[in-house]
Amino acid sequence: MPPNANIDKKTVVLGVTGASGAVFARRTLQMLEADERVGKVHLVISGAGLKVLREELELDVTKKTDIAARLAGSATPKTTYLLDSDIGASIASGSYRVDGMVIIPCSTGCLAQIANGISSTLIERAADVCLKESRKLILAIRDTPLNRVHLRNMLHAQEAGADIFPIIPSFYHRPKTIDDLVTQFCCRVLAHLGLEQSNQFHWSGERP
Ligand SMILES: Cc1cc2nc3c(=O)[nH]c(=O)nc-3n(C[C@H](O)[C@H](O)[C@H](O)COP(=O)(O)O)c2cc1C
Repeated sequence: MPPNANIDKKTVVLGVTGASGAVFARRTLQMLEADERVGKVHLVISGAGLKVLREELELDVTKKTDIAARLAGSATPKTTYLLDSDIGASIASGSYRVDGMVIIPCSTGCLAQIANGISSTLIERAADVCLKESRKLILAIRDTPLNRVHLRNMLHAQEAGADIFPIIPSFYHRPKTIDDLVTQFCCRVLAHLGLEQSNQFHWSGERP
């Protein structure tokens, strides 16, 4: 590959935290890997995120080697896995160019940290960097019901520049499988990052 082959391709940070919804993380990673407009993906998974991956996807999280490939279910040549404790990683600095970050699923705990400017983990710091550098930050929050603190934190984060993207799937595209439902939601997320997917369903008025 020529040295500058990736120069026009997007660099995306994918954060995975300990909210339910590991299938959304898996699908987003698969779509980013498959998208030829994406040159690099930095994958960071919180400790609680690893627990949920084990619980919901039966992923062996004791060994970190090839965790991205095992999460995606196929090779992930574009993806670099970073430890959530690695606060010195490239994405912790605003001087490192990234085009956007998605946290999916995003726990209410992680939302609280971001909404209050607390950056004690790499996911939180990378998110904080996106906000201070006016870069795209998408928070796919998942919990129900939501308390007043969650609602306030969503507003704080949105006012600071984040896109609040709660994991609330749509049904008007008539999903037949969980995968249909997850895929359409992830298409919507990626469209917000400027990565519109050809398989996204678009409502075009009532069906005859
Ligand atoms: C199986 C499982 C499911 C969970 N689901 C949620 C959830 O949907 N939303 C949420 O905010 N927290 C959920 N939690 C709790 C978070 O994992 C916990 O608050 C954790 O401290 C979040 O840490 P993190 O933001 O560093 O990942 C869940 C925990 C477990 C073990």
